[in-house]
Amino acid sequence: MPSVLLLLALLGSALSQDTLPSQDNVTDYAPSLNVECPDFSTTSLIREFTPQNQTLHPSEVQYVEGRLNKTVQDAWNAWLGDGSGLGYNLSAFQGHFPKVGLAIPGGGLRAAQYGAGCLSGLDARNDSSKAAGTGGLLQVASYMTGLSGGSWVTGSLFFNNWPTIKDLVFGNGGNLDGWKLDLPFVSPDGDNVFSKDNQYFYGSILWSVIAKAQAGIDTSITDPWSRAISYHFLNQTNRHNFFTNSTAHGAGQLWSDIPRIPAFQQGLTPFPLIVADSRPSGDNSTAALGPESVVYEISPFEFASYDPNLSAAMNLSYAGTHLSNGKAVNGSACVKGFDQAGFIMGTSASLFNQIFDFARNTLQGFDSSDSNTIVYILQRQLRSVRTRADDVANWPNPFNGIKSSTFKDSGSTWLELIDGASNGENIPYGPLFVKARGLDVVVTLEGSADDLNNWPNGTGAIQTSSRLSSILRSSHQPFPPIPQTAADWVSTGVRQRATFFGCDPVQTPAEYPLVIYLPNAPPITGDDPVTNTQTFDLTYPLKHTQLFLDQVHFNTISGFTPNANTPDPNFGICLQCAAVDRARTKITPVVSRSSQCSKCFQQYCYDPLHPPSQSELPNRKLTFKDPTPLGLSKVEGFLGENKFKLLGGLIGLVAFIAALTGGLIWWKKRRERQMQYDRVKDFHDDSDTTRMWTGQDRSSRYSDYHAEAYELPTQPKWTGPS
Ligand SMILES: *[C@@H]1O[C@H](CO)[C@@H](O)[C@H](O)[C@H]1NC(C)=O
Ligand SMILES: *[C@@H]1O[C@H](CO)[C@@H](O)[C@H](O)[C@H]1NC(C)=O
Ligand SMILES: *[C@@H]1O[C@H](CO)[C@@H](O)[C@H](O)[C@H]1NC(C)=O
Ligand SMILES: *[C@@H]1O[C@H](CO)[C@@H](O)[C@H](O)[C@H]1NC(C)=O
Ligand SMILES: *[C@@H]1O[C@H](CO)[C@@H](O)[C@H](O)[C@H]1NC(C)=O
Ligand SMILES: *[C@@H]1O[C@H](CO)[C@@H](O)[C@H](O)[C@H]1NC(C)=O
Ligand SMILES: *[C@@H]1O[C@H](CO)[C@@H](O)[C@H](O)[C@H]1NC(C)=O
Ligand SMILES: *[C@@H]1O[C@H](CO)[C@@H](O)[C@H](O)[C@H]1NC(C)=O
Ligand SMILES: *[C@@H]1O[C@H](CO)[C@@H](O)[C@H](O)[C@H]1NC(C)=O
Ligand SMILES: *[C@@H]1O[C@H](CO)[C@@H](O)[C@H](O)[C@H]1NC(C)=O
Ligand SMILES: *[C@@H]1O[C@H](CO)[C@@H](O)[C@H](O)[C@H]1NC(C)=O
Ligand SMILES: *[C@@H]1O[C@H](CO)[C@@H](O)[C@H](O)[C@H]1NC(C)=O
Repeated sequence: MPSVLLLLALLGSALSQDTLPSQDNVTDYAPSLNVECPDFSTTSLIREFTPQNQTLHPSEVQYVEGRLNKTVQDAWNAWLGDGSGLGYNLSAFQGHFPKVGLAIPGGGLRAAQYGAGCLSGLDARNDSSKAAGTGGLLQVASYMTGLSGGSWVTGSLFFNNWPTIKDLVFGNGGNLDGWKLDLPFVSPDGDNVFSKDNQYFYGSILWSVIAKAQAGIDTSITDPWSRAISYHFLNQTNRHNFFTNSTAHGAGQLWSDIPRIPAFQQGLTPFPLIVADSRPSGDNSTAALGPESVVYEISPFEFASYDPNLSAAMNLSYAGTHLSNGKAVNGSACVKGFDQAGFIMGTSASLFNQIFDFARNTLQGFDSSDSNTIVYILQRQLRSVRTRADDVANWPNPFNGIKSSTFKDSGSTWLELIDGASNGENIPYGPLFVKARGLDVVVTLEGSADDLNNWPNGTGAIQTSSRLSSILRSSHQPFPPIPQTAADWVSTGVRQRATFFGCDPVQTPAEYPLVIYLPNAPPITGDDPVTNTQTFDLTYPLKHTQLFLDQVHFNTISGFTPNANTPDPNFGICLQCAAVDRARTKITPVVSRSSQCSKCFQQYCYDPLHPPSQSELPNRKLTFKDPTPLGLSKVEGFLGENKFKLLGGLIGLVAFIAALTGGLIWWKKRRERQMQYDRVKDFHDDSDTTRMWTGQDRSSRYSDYHAEAYELPTQPKWTGPS
């Protein structure tokens, strides 16, 4: 009997995915260079427009409008029924429903989990959400934007074919394996970066990145970061193949492949847009950006900016191509496969130029003693290998020569893209306010960490409001009235409960969309919060993720009862009132607001003339309480458990950078036909700090990276523009 079992087990493992030969390869991360371009005499890869006459990509219009008339109509009817619960006759609206978009902000894994928990509370597929009346808002949404951590949940939903949140995050025992956030992002096998499995992991990641560099595209710290993101949020990695090369771990999956995903083809999903900022090319800045920096968006069809001074878009399939005045140097100098899904999510989350702020010797998000310790270690290790250009996502500039009188990077060969929140706009509102998109309702799944307890305090919305009313005046809708300062967001309490902004526009059609604001906030019940975690926490025990999502879900479906700690039984109705309100003014004669909805709006709308008060929200606990105090780390470092974990993660990052930079240098040197490793050698000489943490000698290990690098097959080099 045991031998039969053994045989079965052997057979099982022989047949399992891990051992089957796979057509996928981690080297698929490398884009294809020198592919045929479309015929530039008849086709353009660039779309130009003006703020006054904005146009959207025809395929975007087709998708969104196509869904509106059928799928979204059905979803409204399924959500609101005949409307009588709200005091309306829905058929009176004659199908003129508002156009809704959802925005999921940045903030690392906290923001991703907050976005997920909130989405489950708005998803008609979740029983308790459906019962509360909140489940259904997701189904009527036409757009969904993500930034940084918010782009991870967005991308993950698409590349896993739009499953329920529960299946997406925790797996379904079948083809979905969940996010696996208990496996640390940068040292998945634990703190010892030199363990066999961590080394396998770095080896695979490096193999991808070097393949890209070898193809001739400049890489950066964003590339290994993107690969690590892919292991958790794309669909080719499970616990059995995590440390193997048996799948590509998403390396060959492209953002421009989204239109081929079944759920998208069936029109089940909103139209996704990812936001990234840009640092002026060659500027080398490590500081936060000003509002004038160009903001980009990435759709399944285009890489674009609706900022008035650019107002142009590029065909995403050809991203990575250096275009000048819309043309490549010749007909076979195009690039495809650059828009790798993980790289899009990594670009939106590329905040390295800000966290490695050597000019000020600080790491944002850490207290000063942690910061000093870590910066000291980073400095010692990176002194000889880090170059500034390595701290941004490098995108070949497709807009070279375009809008040269107004677009600042018009003369640049490369664009330097960074985290979408780098200009202070942590909520990806921009694309949802583009005039041509005509949104009526913008739902904010606000998981930003603004104050010292990692709760939002309006900073992102204030920043966007100001950019919309100045730089984007000609191209975007304005933001509705909001409290003017963070202090006002705190004192009015709007940052701790569901709030509707812009309920009473003076014009018809309304001069701004209605903003439904659903902030990460302490549990309404008065329980200890587990959702206000640090942006830089890169590991969560599964139990914490579970509690996190449940807590967010509960708050999302509950609304609030003034001066109490109980759910509002009418919140579902009130959310429906807000979502559908703009429909009243889309028909003539205008339907007046129902008394049921007016009552809701009195409680949930922000009225600048009669602001609410934080005091209506009693017993909210602000301080994070770790639900899994023992965490994952079995080791007590002399700095204490948490710091040790943190350092482990950061040493992992450092190993990435070191390895990556080793790869870059290898590539550059090879290109120059030189075989000396002067800078890496310096790096070897500086190995004492790591020994301090791991008790291992690093020098010999680093030579493994080179051995690995040398195993790469040689391919023809690209000698185009650089
Ligand atoms: C991946 O591709 C490289 C060369 O492109 C090849 O050497 C390697 O064997 C491939 N690996 C797998 C697992 O197919
Ligand atoms: C607006 O742009 C579209 C597409 O580029 C063009 O067909 C149309 O003529 C333009 N309209 C105006 C008023 O310029
Ligand atoms: C959707 O319906 C509107 C109004 O009924 C109509 O004008 C529009 O052409 C329709 N669009 C599509 C893509 O069917
Ligand atoms: C709702 O409006 C439709 C069309 O305007 C009408 O036929 C129907 O009788 C109304 N229903 C109710 C319950 O008033
Ligand atoms: C992963 O997603 C892609 C679409 O992006 C799909 O073609 C593929 O079948 C999925 N793979 C698994 C293992 O679910
Ligand atoms: C995957 O391939 C890379 C590059 O050859 C290597 O460094 C790494 O160790 C491999 N992983 C495994 C588990 O073999
Ligand atoms: C940015 O760094 C590059 C490379 O180190 C240097 O050539 C350039 O002058 C720097 N630019 C500025 C504005 O300091
Ligand atoms: C990108 O360009 C190719 C070649 O012209 C074309 O087939 C494809 O439809 C374009 N994609 C988009 C989204 O415009
Ligand atoms: C847009 O271009 C104009 C003209 O060059 C310039 O004055 C203005 O500052 C630019 N705006 C931004 C936001 O860069
Ligand atoms: C709000 O958040 C910002 C950004 O983190 C912070 O600088 C400010 O001190 C906070 N203000 C209040 C009143 O919480
Ligand atoms: C609905 O969401 C809750 C809270 O996260 C979760 O416990 C429950 O399993 C979900 N139900 C379904 C059917 O996904
Ligand atoms: C076209 O450009 C590619 C890439 O830069 C280059 O390899 C090729 O030689 C060029 N062809 C001609 C005819 O110039």
